[in-house]
Amino acid sequence: MNWKKWLTALLFFPTTMFAQKFKPAPDWLKTAAFYQIYPQSFKDSDGDGIGDINGITSKLDYIKWLGMDAIWLNPCFESSFQDAGYDVTDFYRVAKRYGTNDDLKRLFREAHKRNIRVCLDLVAGHTSIDHPWFKESQKATKNEYSGRYIWTNDSTVKPDRYVSGKFERNGTFRKNFFDIQPALNYGFATLDPAHPWEQPVTAEGPQATRKELMRIIDFWMTMGCDGFRVDMASSLIKNDPDKTETNKLWAEIRQHFQSKFPQGILIAEWGNPARAIKAGFMMDFIIHLGNDGYSSLFFNKEGTYRHDTCYFSEEGNGTPKIFVDYYLEQLKKVGENGYICVPTANHDYQRPNCGIRESEEQLRTVTAFLMTIAGVPLFYYGDEIGMRFIPGLPNKEGSVVRKGNRAGSRTPMQWNTSRGAGFSTADPEQFYLPIDPSECRPNVEAEMANPSSLLHFNRRLLQLRKQYPALGTRGSIRFLYAEDGKYPLVYERAAGKEKFIVVINPAAREEKVSLPYNAIGDVRFEPVLANRSAISFSEGRLRIDAGKVSYGIFKIKN
Ligand code: NOJ
Repeated sequence: MNWKKWLTALLFFPTTMFAQKFKPAPDWLKTAAFYQIYPQSFKDSDGDGIGDINGITSKLDYIKWLGMDAIWLNPCFESSFQDAGYDVTDFYRVAKRYGTNDDLKRLFREAHKRNIRVCLDLVAGHTSIDHPWFKESQKATKNEYSGRYIWTNDSTVKPDRYVSGKFERNGTFRKNFFDIQPALNYGFATLDPAHPWEQPVTAEGPQATRKELMRIIDFWMTMGCDGFRVDMASSLIKNDPDKTETNKLWAEIRQHFQSKFPQGILIAEWGNPARAIKAGFMMDFIIHLGNDGYSSLFFNKEGTYRHDTCYFSEEGNGTPKIFVDYYLEQLKKVGENGYICVPTANHDYQRPNCGIRESEEQLRTVTAFLMTIAGVPLFYYGDEIGMRFIPGLPNKEGSVVRKGNRAGSRTPMQWNTSRGAGFSTADPEQFYLPIDPSECRPNVEAEMANPSSLLHFNRRLLQLRKQYPALGTRGSIRFLYAEDGKYPLVYERAAGKEKFIVVINPAAREEKVSLPYNAIGDVRFEPVLANRSAISFSEGRLRIDAGKVSYGIFKIKN
């Protein structure tokens, strides 16, 4: 090979072929389906109008029935609840309103009996301003916590993202999200000479913070938890544009973590799986953060709460390309080194059932898509029955952010038709958030009793993933029709000889396409789950007839 060829080979060497420097993620992730639970709103067992740990434990059989293998629980620790629990005041204790550490231990045990794993939410980047560490840290006299947060050395100096207040020490502090969330000090990758207070990651304060984080991880893992979703995982080390120091930090944590808990998992909230997995996480989400891919499917370019041009709308004037390009790039970069998850929603943005997407048919196109693409499936609680995003709610525990009010996605789970929807025996006026006021709000009991309900449909989708590796997490995916501004979306899933074609048409108009397809001989299709959608093959072409708002999962038989 001459030098030019060598150079080209080097440049195009696929990222996925770089040796994985970590031990592989545990095998169970390969087939796991996740269920995200917002503890405030899932099930109240003690009648105070707020969901709790024992409530979750009482619903494990339902979660199992649905087909879930793992739960991700939003923060359940002592907190000031000015950001719904993401403002922790004690990392080692379950918040009273949710129960006790023993209740959580029991949840782990009961979940494990059913072969369900439980992941907690690790708020690694900040605490509440009410955390005892912060109270010590703001003191004038030097103490163990003086370096736990990032303080300037002058209370009149207030660069961007710094907050002033009535502190005993002479300084302002750096926040991580809201003003009440002081950033923990993990140090700075590059030091700005104009900011003499910035400390390198090797300084005493940042090193102590790092040790504490590991202590928190060990504490819950030893108690029986199965891993963590790490809040704002990329934010820990400051002034780290290429994430060199951030990656080193997570690599150290992963090594420590896997040496002690080989079956444990680390999930990032990074919004860029390729980067998160490189840093040492085992899974990350494609969500509303960062790239527009996710938003272009369910919201629109300008913001999380507008829908005029998203792909999953009946108007059919969106495009699948932004998502598909990003998703494929991410899949390729991640390769076998980790996992991508494209969830139905989460507690920070709207559910699939919002405004323009209201009909069950539309919701089916969404989950038929999300549950048949490669990657780990995740249902946000309530999406399995088609719970609505509720507009117009008051600001609840910091739910209002720049792009809108997150409370609409955080309302109580609807279990049955009773006044309190089976969520709680308290007076509904006392509920954490009001229940969906609509008369025909969906509920678990009714949908369980109806085999043709959305709930059964979603359960079936999860079963199909288990039944057919081609439709599962590691099956390959190839988009056959994902044209800019065009409908339907068509892709092939495969694993070994097993092959499927999936057709998704969110638009309220019939679409017909004919696509070149490489196949030999007589190809027949078995619709394993399809509605108003048909497919045939002849003379080297697939002929697809996708009815209005339709989906089709077709198994290739030859
Ligand atoms: C991301 C969490 O998902 C969100 O709910 C929270 O407000 C911020 N991080 C701050 O912790």
